Amino acid sequence: MDSKALVLFTLLGFLLAEPGFGQRGDTDLSEWMKAQEKLINTLQGNQKDVERQQSDLLALEARLNATVDELERQKDEMDKLKKENQDLQTRLSASDGEIDKLKHSSKAAPRVAFSVSLVNSGEIYQGPCTDKTLIFKRIFSNVGNAYNHNTGIFTAPANGLYFFSFNTYGYNTHIVGAILVKNAVRQISTYDYPSTDGSDSGSNTAVLQLAAGDKVHVELWDNSRVFDNMNGHTTFSGFLLFPL
Ligand SMILES: *[C@@H]1O[C@H](CO)[C@@H](O)[C@H](O)[C@H]1NC(C)=O
Repeated sequence: MDSKALVLFTLLGFLLAEPGFGQRGDTDLSEWMKAQEKLINTLQGNQKDVERQQSDLLALEARLNATVDELERQKDEMDKLKKENQDLQTRLSASDGEIDKLKHSSKAAPRVAFSVSLVNSGEIYQGPCTDKTLIFKRIFSNVGNAYNHNTGIFTAPANGLYFFSFNTYGYNTHIVGAILVKNAVRQISTYDYPSTDGSDSGSNTAVLQLAAGDKVHVELWDNSRVFDNMNGHTTFSGFLLFPL
């Protein structure tokens, strides 16, 4: 039984039980019942409207909930990105610092290295002589131009620790040897007396602490003679190990 019919029967029950019912006219009764039916229809229509609105509201709330969830997810994502960005910023500024340090240290460390031998053509027997500085003419390398091939003198371009080595070669008629000199002060040397063997070679190496402007060269001992040709027997090399 549908609800409309149920209501009608109930109303009918009330009417029949009502005192004085029999005194009403039939026309009155049917009009009254029509009015009641209309009222019921209206009420039922209203109820449907309310139900529809309720379900609309529920759907709206579900969409709102979904939107809130999505916003929260996006906020989490944003927080994560912010943190990642901060980490990157931190690492970036650390890297910048490292780059600056590297730039600075590469500026502070000029590139200095040279390697030379006595002649760049023919051959030479040098010494004994009064101007004993060996002027090496054949340039294998001279990065930084700290070695001067006109004077034979190396001038330190910066404070630092420098590596030097030299070799002397000559025949047995003379002393064969030379001295590595720093600012007119002897440091290390080679030396070989005249002897029965045909020729002699000697070499030596030093790591010297130099200040910018310090001068280093190789010079013959008194009465010493060295030989060289394009085979590069008599040589002088040096480079900056690191700045100090
Ligand atoms: C919307 O979220 C609230 C709070 O979490 C919850 O109580 C409600 O049932 C949700 N509504 C719907 C339609 O999912």
